Order: sequence, then C-alpha cells, then structure tokens
Amino acid sequence: APVQVKKICCIGAGYVGGPTCAVIALKCPNIIVTIVDLNKARIDAWNSPDFALPIYEPGLVDVVKQARGRNLFFSTDVDKAIEEADLIFVSVNTPTKKSGVGAGFAADLNYVELATRRIATVASSNKIVVEKSTVPCRTAESMRTILEANSKPGCHFDILSNPEFLAEGTAIDDLFAPDRVLIGSLQTPEGISACESLAQVYSNWVPKERILTVGLWSSELSKLAANAMLAQRISSVNALSAICEATGANIDEVAHAIGYDSRIGPKFLRASVGFGGSCFQKDILNLVYLSESLHLPEVAAYWRQVVEMNEYQKRRFSKRVVDTLFNTITGKRIAVLGFAFKADTGDTRESAAITLIKDFQSEKAIVSVYDPQVPHDQIWQDLQEASPLVPLDTIKKQVSICNSAIEACKNAEAVVIATEWKEFKEIDWEEVYANMNKPAFVFDGRLLVDADKLRKIGFKVTTIGRPS
Ligand code: NAD
Ligand code: UGA
Repeated sequence: APVQVKKICCIGAGYVGGPTCAVIALKCPNIIVTIVDLNKARIDAWNSPDFALPIYEPGLVDVVKQARGRNLFFSTDVDKAIEEADLIFVSVNTPTKKSGVGAGFAADLNYVELATRRIATVASSNKIVVEKSTVPCRTAESMRTILEANSKPGCHFDILSNPEFLAEGTAIDDLFAPDRVLIGSLQTPEGISACESLAQVYSNWVPKERILTVGLWSSELSKLAANAMLAQRISSVNALSAICEATGANIDEVAHAIGYDSRIGPKFLRASVGFGGSCFQKDILNLVYLSESLHLPEVAAYWRQVVEMNEYQKRRFSKRVVDTLFNTITGKRIAVLGFAFKADTGDTRESAAITLIKDFQSEKAIVSVYDPQVPHDQIWQDLQEASPLVPLDTIKKQVSICNSAIEACKNAEAVVIATEWKEFKEIDWEEVYANMNKPAFVFDGRLLVDADKLRKIGFKVTTIGRPS
C-alpha cells in the first residue's frame, strides 16, 4: 500500500518552495511541513514575527499566518528536516549556466545535485524524493543514480517529478485551484505507489480528475513544453504587434479577434514590451540545449526564435522611444514606471525594464524609476549586473529611484510604462502632465492606459502594437 505521508521537507525556500509548501501545510493540517534553506536571511524573513516575508505574493501572508508554528516550519537545519521526512521536495534554483559546457543555454544543475547528495548522505530511512525544480528531461535518472550510489544500506528512494505551474503574482490562487497537478513516476509498482502517496497529499484539496499521473520523462518534458508554448504565444503576438505598428492594425483588436476562436482562446495574448521572469527564457534555452544535444538542430532553431523575438521586441521598443523623441534622448529625463517583470510581484528576474533602462543609459538619458514593490537595493543590484563594467556611482549619476510615480515623472520628457501595475492606470495624469516638459510623451509598453484620455490631456501617446 502507498506510504501515507506524515512529514514533508522542502529544500529551497524560494518563490516556489515557500508558497507551494505553505499551501500544502495549510490544506493538510495532519502533515508536518518543514521548509529549509541554506540562506539564513531568507529563513529569518519567513520566520519574522511581523510576517515581513522574503517574497511578495498576494494572499501569502494569510496562509503563513494560519499555518506557521502549527504544522509549518522554516529552518536552516537541512539535515534534520531531511532525516525526519518521508517525502522531500527539491525546490532549489536551476539557473542558466554562465560558464562551461552549454553556457548560456543549459540548466545549472549544481544546486539540485548538492541537495540530492545531501539527502543521500543524511537519510537513514526510505524517502520519496520529489523533483519540484524545473529540470531538463531525464534529471530524475541522475538523481536516482546519485541517491543509490550514496545511500545507507536498506534505505530505498523513490523519485517523482512534480513540476510547478504557478505564476508569480497569482501563486496562492494557482495553488488553491490548480488547472492540474502533474506527477511523473517510473511505471514500476514502487514508482506507482510513490506517485499515489503524493497524489493523496494533493487530494486534500485538488479534485482527483485534476491530478494527472504520467511517466517521469513526460512529466519533466511537459514542464519545459508548457513554458515554451506560453512564451511562444507572447512572442507570436509581439511579432504581430510589429506588423500592427507598421500597418495601422491594432494588436488589441487582432488579439481579441483571434482569441475568440475557441481553439486559440483569449488568454495570454497581450502584446508587451517583452516577457520577463525567471523561467520563460531559461526554460526555452534549456529546451534548445536539449534539442541540440539530441541532434535536432531544426527543433532547437524553432524554439530559439521565441527568445530572439523577445529580444527584438525589447530593442524595438527602446528604439521607438528614441525615434519619437526626435532621435535623441541625451540628457533628457525618462521616467520608467515599473521595474518588476509583471504586476503584483516584487520579482525582477529578466524584467524587460532592466533592458530598457540599460538602453536609455547607453543613449545618455537621465532615468527616474518607480516601482511599488521592488526594493531599491534590488534595482541597484540589477542595474549593476546589467552593466558590470560601469561603476555603481556612475550608474547612480544617471539613474534615480523615486518613491512615487508622480515624483518619477516630474520634469520628465517621457514616461515609459514597463510593468502593468494597476496604480499606473489610476495616477493623476493631469498632475503628471502639468509637471512634465512639453511635448510630454507617454510610451505604453503594456497596453495599460487609456490612450485617448491621455491625448485629451495633451500627451503624445505611443502604444505597443498601434501606429503612432
Ligand atoms: P529561488 O532562487 O527563489 O529559490 C531557491 C532556493 O533554494 C534559494 O533560496 C536557495 O538558497 C535554496 N537552495 C539552493 N541550494 C540549496 C541547498 N542545497 N540546500 C538548501 N537550500 C538550497 O528559486 P525559485 O524561483 O523558487 O525556483 C525554484 C525552481 O522552481 C526552479 O527550478 C524554477 O525553474 C522552478 N519554478 C519557478 C517558478 C517561479 O515562478 N519562480 C515557477 C515554476 C517553477
Ligand atoms: C510562468 C508561467 O505562467 C507559469 O505557469 C510557470 O509555472 C512559471 O512561468 C515558471 O515556470 O516559472 P510567471 O513567469 O510567474 O509564470 O508569469 P507569467 O504570468 O507567465 O508572465 C511571464 C511574462 O510574460 C511576464 O513578463 C508577463 O508580463 C508576460 N506576459 C504574460 C505578456 O507579455 N503577455 C501576456 O499575455 C502574458
């Protein structure tokens, strides 16, 4: 019979491990969930008395308030949590490799391997080890080899793949009511039994028909495939937005019209200044690398183009800003509204705003940035990483961080909307206009504001996917 899970350990208290396992704890009061991380500052933040959690996610504080100290714990004692658990999620980061074989494409599996080795070293009883991180196809096989080669006698490991599909900003809603939970296992009696153990955990709140069980490799590949298909939709709509700008078609109308086809569907068709986030680019590059390793160059080229289109979209947008401002922004103040890669998150990984600001810096503009959630230190860190050769002092002469949208727009020549924060829709645009240099330009990279309303105030508005 499948093992009934009583104690869960989650290795990695990041954007995925934290919310996912906090929700498991909330929904399964009979399971003790311990989330561990090597990063002490992160764990301290998860444990902070005033719930100043390390990540911003609507509804998350509420979940942690209900479960923390009851059956949800955060700790840096990785070994103890591994030892005690019957099921272990590996939810560590898998960034794109920066050097060595596959640099720029392949996933860096070092963190996964270190966590796996730790499990092998510490465990003295049977464990179900669950791959939660997004990994290349067949990583579970490597994990198994490592576990089996290093385990204590009599200690058995089952390996499952259980990729996470939550999106940042809606993580809690996504976890409460997932479209599906995917569990991959070896199709052996042990594998299927382990799969049932994990399915039982989810069945505390997820309807049975939404828990899909498949083979290990299908599960791993489905995660990369889902992200690649989602990103491809955005690159497709962004490619069309360029045609719209050149012809007079309107991308909003086009997306609406094609989205009415029930085979296409209306979601995820919003043209933008380019997709960001920690995963789309990383996972597609991972798929490209996988395809190349499998000697499938045509397949690799196909997916690579999704990322190239995204780069093109960002470059195209900053060029449009320069072109519109009479071909020079040298010494001009550009207000950038939004720094997060999407609304309702403080996450900035691969945010299009970083690329835009870097482009404006190279054109010698003066940039003032405002974002309602991103900590100032994070912005400096990202800008420094984007221009490693420029000293931070020099960057700070060109860029300033403001505490409100109104402040950022003061004395600016142009406002660039980089993130679709709702509050940018609602700012007092009359006041913004009064305090800007004229002509006052607005560049809407997110199809966010009512262009006609702004034009009535006096702004010159440029919107992605519409002719100027
Ligand atoms: P993250 O960087 O926010 O968190 C990972 C954490 O793991 C870090 O806090 C790090 O200190 C910790 N860690 C690394 N090695 C460790 C070890 N050996 N022992 C203990 N802790 C260790 O990353 P994330 O955004 O949570 O992503 C984790 C994985 O989930 C990635 O593979 C990612 O592709 C995938 N994923 C992310 C999202 C998302 O929205 N961010 C969604 C679905 C899947
Ligand atoms: C994405 C997927 O949606 C999740 O299912 C997946 O689990 C996750 O990646 C992951 O593997 O990390 P996330 O990156 O958090 O989630 O956010 P999305 O809502 O997918 O947005 C990604 C980017 O695409 C953002 O920059 C967003 O602004 C942009 N986007 C999204 C568009 O430009 N247009 C759209 O229509 C939708």
